[in-house]
Amino acid sequence: MSITIKNDTDIEKMRIAGKLASEVLDYITPFVKPGVTTGELDKLCHDYMVSVQGTIPAPLNYAPPGHIPYPKSICTSVNQQVCHGVPGEKILKSGDIVNLDITVIKDGYHGDTSRMFCVGTPSIQAKRLCDITYECMWLGIAQVRPGATLGDIGHVIQKHAEDSGYSVVREFCGHGIGKKFHEDPQVLHYGRPGTGLKLQQGMMFTIEPMINAGKRDIRQLGDGWSIVTKDRSLSAQWEHTILVTADGYEVMTLSAGSPPPPAFIRT
Ligand code: MF3
Ligand code: CO
Ligand code: CO
Repeated sequence: MSITIKNDTDIEKMRIAGKLASEVLDYITPFVKPGVTTGELDKLCHDYMVSVQGTIPAPLNYAPPGHIPYPKSICTSVNQQVCHGVPGEKILKSGDIVNLDITVIKDGYHGDTSRMFCVGTPSIQAKRLCDITYECMWLGIAQVRPGATLGDIGHVIQKHAEDSGYSVVREFCGHGIGKKFHEDPQVLHYGRPGTGLKLQQGMMFTIEPMINAGKRDIRQLGDGWSIVTKDRSLSAQWEHTILVTADGYEVMTLSAGSPPPPAFIRT
């Protein structure tokens, strides 16, 4: 595989797909309340994507090497679930935290974004984990410009997470994205400044740190997809799709309901 450089047509189509993915999160937000099941959230998002937006839910039947086809249209990762949580009968209750990860295909292009949601009233610890993970994602995004390296991105994410007493999941990473769901390069959420691939204008990839309140170790559940922390500690994740521009970055996955960047980010 190799890294694709996006032309103006690609970029315009990725803007559209990215905004649509984010708008699914805007749409589902009022439904994320105590008593709803993750399966109901999946069905609502599926129907919104297919019937309202005319988008294709990229996860549905997605089958990368070594995996059974993914059976649902979104990922719902609750509490100690790290990523790829499969929606089902699970009822959300006050105090839960849940990541909803949306990937849509529009006109052949992918938009991939996720947010954390606090169900009802969160504990102080759970809210802090969600907030620090959001800051980690944005610290990584703010590194993006031509000439910076992937190691610069990973380093600031790892430093903020570990300085906060948390750990970074190593087995999953951000990824190039475009006409394919997962392209090169792999975007690690840990690393050393100045190492790794040098960024060039026109590259497009996700930044999607998974941060655990406890140890970094993970395991896969028997459903073949859901990933949980080995020590059952809480885990959080946020994701945006990012373009390297001439002098910095553009976030492709913004919409009216996107939370603002942390105050320390100058835009
Ligand atoms: N959206 C996830 C990502 O950010 C991938 C989900 S793959 C699925 O890369 F099959 F689990 F949906
Ligand atoms: Co992704
Ligand atoms: Co995603």
